[in-house]
Amino acid sequence: MGYLILNVDCFEWLAQREVNSVHAVLTDPPFGVKEYESLQQQKMRDGRGGVWRIPPEIGGSKRMPLPRFTVLGDDDIEALQDFFGRWAALVFRVLVPGAHLFVAANPLLSHVVFSAIASAGLEKRGEIIRLVRTFRGGDRPKGAEKEFEDLCTMPRATYEPWGLFRKPLEGRVVDNLRKWKTGALRRPAVDVPFSDVIESTRTPRAERDIAPHPSLKPQRFLRQLVWAALPFGEGVVLDPFMGSGSAVAAAEALGVESIGLEIDPEYFQMAEQAIPRLAAVSADSSFSHEGRFGAQNIVQPRLFEG
Ligand SMILES: C[S@@+](CC[C@H](N)C(=O)[O-])C[C@H]1O[C@@H](n2cnc3c(N)ncnc32)[C@H](O)[C@@H]1O
Repeated sequence: MGYLILNVDCFEWLAQREVNSVHAVLTDPPFGVKEYESLQQQKMRDGRGGVWRIPPEIGGSKRMPLPRFTVLGDDDIEALQDFFGRWAALVFRVLVPGAHLFVAANPLLSHVVFSAIASAGLEKRGEIIRLVRTFRGGDRPKGAEKEFEDLCTMPRATYEPWGLFRKPLEGRVVDNLRKWKTGALRRPAVDVPFSDVIESTRTPRAERDIAPHPSLKPQRFLRQLVWAALPFGEGVVLDPFMGSGSAVAAAEALGVESIGLEIDPEYFQMAEQAIPRLAAVSADSSFSHEGRFGAQNIVQPRLFEG
């Protein structure tokens, strides 16, 4: 039990890993691929942008940089398709039959990422919509904001799509559940099915202070996915693009075994110190200080224990 984290390239690690040895993958990959290449990371860290938009400080408060996916060209999209196709083939090998993959995406690129993953043989089982207000979109036409004040060039983004995939079952669902302990999603409560829309908030400040990664996801949301991913809470959850380790921390908070991989030494060090602290966060209080608790957002009480 517990977790294992490694400072490695997940492609290399996945190629070496034993087949049929992972029971769920839950990950937030570099959707545009390019934004986490070392040149772009250096530009971001130097405050010089590149693919990253460095938001201006508002009233002395600094906001996290955001990757700009609209700058990607045809070649970048092709590279993206190739990246996720190769990655999904490696993931397919290590998953046990019936294992689920939850993969974060972006509304501008999800069609590319999801079709590449499906082409590797993983079955698309739907999408989980994380309802979250972001700073993306909703802008007036640049340079003519006054003239066209009642227009916006793109919708203000209020959701994040997570692709849900499953490795084909061995036999029927019940056969697969009995043999591999996978094939179904765990309900938040016996009389409440797992739902594909989850109310969320931006990652709470308390968590961002622990792990200042530009793509940090909130514990409250991740714990709901980890809970659903393992039908009996047994097996290994893998995050091949762990960043600061938020998914590993969510698994740890629920007492689930996990493995996290990260290529960037700086983010890996961040994960080393952040995981125990994120795992100790009470997802209930960190949510309520940021926003309201939606009655329809039903989660298993155990998820709040931290
Ligand atoms: C979108 S971020 C994930 C952030 C994470 N959700 C968190 O809460 O901290 C993607 C991460 O994947 C890492 N990465 C990119 N390519 C990788 C590879 N080939 N192997 C392992 N990690 C990689 C990046 O350095 C980045 O930290």
